[in-house]
Amino acid sequence: MIYRLTCSLIVALLCSPGSASGDGEDHELIGNMGAMQYFSHKLDLSIHHRNRELADFYAHEIEETLEETIEIDEYHGKPIGKLAEAMLVPAFERFEQALDDEGEWEAVERRFGELIDACNVCHQATGYDFINIQRSDENPYMQRFEPN
Ligand code: HEC
Repeated sequence: MIYRLTCSLIVALLCSPGSASGDGEDHELIGNMGAMQYFSHKLDLSIHHRNRELADFYAHEIEETLEETIEIDEYHGKPIGKLAEAMLVPAFERFEQALDDEGEWEAVERRFGELIDACNVCHQATGYDFINIQRSDENPYMQRFEPN
């Protein structure tokens, strides 16, 4: 049901006339997406190790990247800002709520999974379904994710 609602929302947004914007935004979007992936992976590792302080930190970084993405009117004719607001913001808010409700790591895990699903739904909606974000608990960073 929610999926269907989201789909009709996407169709409505894609069919609405987008506003013009310059090429300069292309780089901003790709930079934002790289940041989303980077912070999401580190957030996933923080959740995996039940590290609340670190999870809060990366959730905040994602929130800021999301706010910047919402500012992007258009990219290749797709209303990026509106799509991000319609799809990623609700999933992010549910995730943040779960994280705020201290203690319920299972809910945090579930909501984070839904957040990543929302990333992929938007990739599908914008014709980038070949960019498929997948959760990973492998740590390639020179960083410790366990709580101190
Ligand atoms: C508004 C729709 C939308 C949302 C929401 C969205 N993306 Fe994207 N994403 C795109 C588009 C469009 C591109 C292609 C950008 C380009 O061609 O410059 C992209 C590209 C990417 C890339 C390829 C760039 C790279 O560095 O490899 C990654 C990774 C990525 N997104 C991750 C994410 C993650 C993680 C999330 C969720 C936290 C997310 N995206 C949410 C639309 C979205």
